Amino acid sequence: MKTIFDKTEIKNLKLKNRLFRSATWEALADENGHFDEEIYNIYDELAAGGVGCIISGFTSVSDGDQYFGGMARLSNDGLIPEHKRLVDTVHKHGVPIIVQLALGEYQNKEIDELTENDTHTIREMFISAADRAVLAGYDGVQIHAAHGFFLSRYISPAYNRRADPEQLIIDIAKAVREHHNDLHITMKINSDDFMYGGLDENGSMRICLACVPFLDSIEVSGNGTSVAGIKAGVNEAYFKRFALALAEKADIPVILVGGHRSIENMNRVLNEGGIECLSLSRPLIREPDLINRWQRGECSPAKCVSCNMCYRTPAHKCIFRLRGIE
Ligand SMILES: Cc1cc2nc3c(=O)[nH]c(=O)nc-3n(C[C@H](O)[C@H](O)[C@H](O)COP(=O)(O)O)c2cc1C
Repeated sequence: MKTIFDKTEIKNLKLKNRLFRSATWEALADENGHFDEEIYNIYDELAAGGVGCIISGFTSVSDGDQYFGGMARLSNDGLIPEHKRLVDTVHKHGVPIIVQLALGEYQNKEIDELTENDTHTIREMFISAADRAVLAGYDGVQIHAAHGFFLSRYISPAYNRRADPEQLIIDIAKAVREHHNDLHITMKINSDDFMYGGLDENGSMRICLACVPFLDSIEVSGNGTSVAGIKAGVNEAYFKRFALALAEKADIPVILVGGHRSIENMNRVLNEGGIECLSLSRPLIREPDLINRWQRGECSPAKCVSCNMCYRTPAHKCIFRLRGIE
């Protein structure tokens, strides 16, 4: 029997439990990627809260990328000291941290306008950002290929008709592995784009399996990532079907995100098949110490009501916490 509290080791990561904080954009960087002081408080609180590993908010590999406001960046060496401070803040609590490397837009070009030269530049941007991640002390990198970001569009038949769109991800992962053998390399991917002509579960499975030999784990998500109105025991773990199917075929750990709210359901999911780890975002915005609370034996479901107001508050804080509501 697996439980969320099992100590686990997955390629170069020692985890005190099976729970990850899934990437969460805090919008706490200026247009050049410099962090606001508040970011360190947020990660300090999170790392103290009992989670097994933290995945940072999306962090652009490109200086020019203005896809979302307040995006963090690892797009030049000048940013390394701030990331090192973030890593040290988390490591102080004995918690590993992975940086989510993302590209939002590339010079406002559509995928089918990209030249060989463009794809080469993009690949190099990811590889250089991974080098900087190592210099900052991160334990791993996550290639963000989900939620409509550049790589998600690149592997989606709605945007790219190349026969082997996964090759770009493979090339990035291979190069990162070649230089940094002990870095954990993971990828977040849509199980389904949920759009006409987009990536569906068959397409996503094909891409995941092609990438498996070059990765250490895969985090399964989907478009419409933060489903509203999740109720414990009713509609949790909404991308589970695909994650279970992937875990059966892939020989690397599968991490499932999306709507985990109760210990009972999470343990059930872990024991339905080969899913190794689970990741959470909104419940930890509401209760950064949620995992410690559960470990203390206070086992009621996460207080998060999935209202998604956190997308609209400063620093993406929980509206309940901001208003002092328990
Ligand atoms: C405020 C906010 C910011 C998010 N930022 C990111 C991000 O930077 N990268 C990412 O892959 N997903 C991001 N997500 C999606 C979460 O990682 C997660 O996949 C989704 O919210 C479902 O999990 P949950 O039910 O535990 O919240 C964000 C979600 C929220 C609520």
